[in-house]
Amino acid sequence: MEKKNLDWGSLGFNYVQTDLRYVSNYKDGAWDEGCLTDQAVIPINECACVLQYAQTCFEGLKAYTTEDGKIVCFRPDLNAARMASSCARLQMPVFPEDRFVDAVVQTVRANAQWVPPYGSGATLYIRPYMFGSDAIIGVKPANEYQFRVFVTPVGPYFKGGIKPLTVRISDLDRAAPRGTGHVKAGLNYAMSLSNIVDAHEQGYDENVYLDSATRTHIEETGGANIIFIQGNKLVTPKSDTILPSITRRSLIHVAREYLGMEVEERPVELAEIGQFAECGLCGTAAVISPIGTIDDHGKLTHYAGMGPGIQKLYDTLTGIQMGRIPAPEGWIQVIGE
Ligand code: PLP
Ligand code: COI
Repeated sequence: MEKKNLDWGSLGFNYVQTDLRYVSNYKDGAWDEGCLTDQAVIPINECACVLQYAQTCFEGLKAYTTEDGKIVCFRPDLNAARMASSCARLQMPVFPEDRFVDAVVQTVRANAQWVPPYGSGATLYIRPYMFGSDAIIGVKPANEYQFRVFVTPVGPYFKGGIKPLTVRISDLDRAAPRGTGHVKAGLNYAMSLSNIVDAHEQGYDENVYLDSATRTHIEETGGANIIFIQGNKLVTPKSDTILPSITRRSLIHVAREYLGMEVEERPVELAEIGQFAECGLCGTAAVISPIGTIDDHGKLTHYAGMGPGIQKLYDTLTGIQMGRIPAPEGWIQVIGE
């Protein structure tokens, strides 16, 4: 199969329109059979619930070319399950989890020419999403929905690739107790936009959010969970108001089972961040991005950047994803050759 003629190594985390996407419509209480389409533009009613009341959620996962030339994706069943919980929280119908995985497979297969080659530094980002599509003016859920999956080849999420990040402790909050922080609702990202623009203007790569109830604990950033390393220990915040990152959950397993590390998943106080040697962001887009500095209103905490702990987690996780290291049962979905 001939690949598209792209300069894979210079891709950033930007949308590139690919050939085909998957679409299924929900109407009269049922999903249709779904199909691939070349239509990247969606005609939609001016009063669609998504446009008025942001009734939308999404997922993010990646497809990789492995060392032996297969196209695979990583734990799509967990994205299907998380989307089901997002839909439940937003009063949207669930797209059946087996059909979610099938839609991902179909979309990647149909765009195989866009899957970056092994070793190029790029991957294929897969974006499943759903929105309320019919006209709703009173505050209530839509009756009709569209589920879609598109793919786009991407490079590193943070400019500068693997350079240690500088992040700040945010003055704004991300998620309320009993709110929507634990699901992947579009509204969680809409409300973060002014804060990320401001962070970038001030020279920071990301915002670190604190728990909004007490503002004493580390939660996560706008688009990734946080991990800390202390000796042979991985420490990561436990909270009901952060997104249950599939990367973080995978790293916990990798740390324990592959690297013999101790793992603590527990509330992490802002006051203790100076005790860790290394810190990083983890997520599908972020992979593992090392943090160099956390700035808490002028009080700087410095970390080793890509230190030995983060490096071995990174090498093992990406080794599993790219087929260099045997994966735990069920983690890798083979999509094609
Ligand atoms: N936290 C937030 C707010 C995110 O948007 C993401 C990205 O999906 C993550 C964490 C990381 O989750 P995952 O590892 O499942 O991609
Ligand atoms: C992902 O990592 O898939 C996300 O959704 C994060 C987003 C900020 C791009």
